[in-house]
This record gives sequence, C-alpha cells and structure tokens, in this order.
Amino acid sequence: MILVTGGAGFIGANFVLDWLAQSDEPVVNLDKLTYAGNLENLASLADDARHVFVKGDMGDKALVAGLLATHQPRAVINFAAESHVDRSIHGPEDFIQTNIVGTFGLLEAVKAHWMAMENGAKAAFRLLHVSTDEVYGSLGLGDAAFTETHRYEPNSPYSASKAASDHLVRAYHHTYGLPVLTTNCSNNYGPCHFPEKLIPLMIVNALAGKPLPVYGDGQQIRDWLYVKDHCSAIRRVLDAGKPGEVYNIGGWNEKPNIDIVHTVCALLDELRPKADAGSYSAQIAYVTDRPGHDRRYAIDASKIERDLGWKPAETFDTGIRKTVAWYLANPDWVANVQSGAYRAWTTRQYGGALGSQQEVAA
Ligand code: NAD
Ligand code: TYD
Repeated sequence: MILVTGGAGFIGANFVLDWLAQSDEPVVNLDKLTYAGNLENLASLADDARHVFVKGDMGDKALVAGLLATHQPRAVINFAAESHVDRSIHGPEDFIQTNIVGTFGLLEAVKAHWMAMENGAKAAFRLLHVSTDEVYGSLGLGDAAFTETHRYEPNSPYSASKAASDHLVRAYHHTYGLPVLTTNCSNNYGPCHFPEKLIPLMIVNALAGKPLPVYGDGQQIRDWLYVKDHCSAIRRVLDAGKPGEVYNIGGWNEKPNIDIVHTVCALLDELRPKADAGSYSAQIAYVTDRPGHDRRYAIDASKIERDLGWKPAETFDTGIRKTVAWYLANPDWVANVQSGAYRAWTTRQYGGALGSQQEVAA
C-alpha cells in the first residue's frame, strides 16, 4: 500500500493511473479537491478496489495520522500543492498555507507514525516529496543546467513556497532521520493538464477560436518532460533512491515558449484542420509579460541517469503529439473543465456525500 497526496491533480492522477496499470499494490489517494483536483481524471478507476480516495487536507495531522494507522503504507508520495505561478502572483496566501504549512503538517504526522514503526517496516519506509526546478531560479542563456547542488534562488511566490517545503523535508531527514527522497522536475505536459498552463491553454484556446496569449517576447525557455516519464522517474526514485538524496528529473528538452506554441498549432493544423484551411498560429497574440518572469529553466538529469539508470521514454515530438491527440479525443473532459462542471463530478458520482474524512473507492 502507498499513500499519495494530490492524486486528483495533473501529475498525481497520471501517477496513480500508471501505478495501478503496472502493479496491484493499492493506493490511498488523499486530495483536498481544490479547483485543480478533478476526480474525472480517475474515472477509469471507479470500480477498482485498489484505489481508495479520501477527500481531505494533507496538512490535517489527525486525518493523516488516521490514514497512516489504518492503511500502514510503505511509502507516502507528496504531490499536493498549489502549482500555478500566475495564481501565486495574484494570491500568494494559498501557496503559503498549502505548500509550506500543509507540507509541515504532513511531515509531522508522517514523522510521528514512522518513529513508532517496528524496525523492519521503519527501515523500508519512504516519504517522497515531489518538487520543481523552479526553486533554483532563472538561468542565463549560456549557463549550465541546474544540478542538485545548484543554489536555491526562487523568484515567484510559488517557487519560494516550494523551496520552503523542500527545506522542511530536508530538515526532517537531517534532524529526525526521516527517510525522505526529494525530486525536482522540469515542466511537465500531457493528458489531464489543467488548461491554465501553457500547453493545454494553447490547445483549448486554439480549438475555441480564441487568442493564444504569449507572455512578453515568447523567448523564455522551459525544459519539457512528458508527464508519464516524470511518473516513471518517481517510481524509480522510490525503488532505488537513497534516503536524504535529491534527484533532478528532466529530459534535456529546452524550448522557447513561442516554439512550443507553433508546434501545438502545427499539430492542430494537421490533426484538426480549420474549415478555412488557415493556421491556428494566426491566433497567436503577444500580451503583457508575467511580473518577475524567469527567463530560462534547464535540468541536468545526469545524476538520476547515472545512479538510478532512468531515462525518459518519450521525445518531445512523440510526447506532444500524444498530448494534442489526447485533448482532441477528450472534448468532454475539456468542456467540463472549462464550464466548471468537473467540480460537480464528485456530487454526481458520490451524491454529495463526500465529507472531509470519508473514504470512497473512486
Ligand atoms: P495540480 O495543481 O494539477 O494538482 C495539485 C493537486 O493537489 C490537486 O488535485 C489539488 O486538489 C491537490 N491539493 C492542493 N492542496 C492540497 C492539500 N492541502 N491537501 C491535499 N491535496 C491538495 O499540480 P501538478 O501539476 O499535478 O503538480 C503536482 C506536484 O508536482 C506539485 O507539488 C508541483 O509543485 C510539482 N511539479 C509540477 C510540475 C508541472 O509542470 N506541473 C513540474 C515539477 C513539479
Ligand atoms: P506555465 O505553464 O504557467 O508554467 P511555469 O510558469 O511553471 O513554467 O508557463 C510556461 C511558460 O509559458 C512560462 O514561461 C509562462 C508562459 N506562458 C505564456 O506565455 N502564456 C500563457 O498564457 C501561460 C499560461 C504561460
């Protein structure tokens, strides 16, 4: 049994689906179901007893303590977070509460449980904390990619709150011996990505005939990894990572934002041609830049490749094609997210009976 937090979000849901596709080890999924949590992502597990969904806050120590006591997981994987930089600029409070205070609550509950475990299970137990490359700050064009020892220089309220959570996780290892693993991954893309982030926003806006808003000059560089490769890296770190270590995860795939947008448009031109045969790229609109916008992120993935033998399965070309195809094949998912109907999914599915401490198989 493993316990994941934030497993109804983009990466967490992909992780749960992949986990149960490859193993019969059950998953307890603790998610607060914020606007970013969408149980429709997990609809294929509706009748699967291996998945136990619990609606609740990872910072609720009593709730987490109860789940740990009941289910005795061998590992906890922490995906839960507020994750959108633009939202953190407009309203940082939730980011402090969730990413810092929430992680602290989770650590306290996990530490108390771990300390009381019997020796064999205690030695095998792991807490894996999922973090981001954004904690390292921004690179210049000629700078070397981020290694695990790169100085922390977070620039947004989001990345600062994630950096704080990384430091707390580190401290619980050094101070209490808690067997933690931390992963810092580059930008993900793929199925079930909430359309407030660059790639899904461009796909859904293009299809809706809306402008494709590119911040500033569009030359900011991100390092893109297909979400299922992130999930395979997390599984590998959980299996073979050394407690107390940090692993950067990335696929050596840096691209300027404007190139990403043109690639998405070209794929849509091919897979869903416009009636007038024009290109979706005509919808590109340069807009005011994000305040404090980091110029470049790049992950040096040498350590996880060398020490754990992990490599991504997808290239950007194969991953982005799968991603665009997924959005074209799932118009209902897109429509429910855009209309907000996905938030009613829980009510439809569970008759509104989902309380903060109730468990349901989802
Ligand atoms: P997301 O915003 O799509 O999902 C976050 C999930 O956490 C949601 O289901 C939400 O309901 C849940 N949640 C929020 N607060 C909670 C709380 N207090 N208790 C329980 N659940 C809570 O995020 P994502 O893109 O899937 O990212 C997952 C993790 O990976 C985050 O920690 C993020 O920082 C990290 N990460 C993301 C990326 C990326 O490109 N998306 C890259 C690297 C790292
Ligand atoms: P985003 O998906 O928000 O991820 P992050 O900020 O965590 O890297 O944004 C990716 C890049 O795309 C980032 O440089 C900001 C830019 N961007 C746009 O140009 N337009 C948009 O509408 C969005 C959402 C992002």
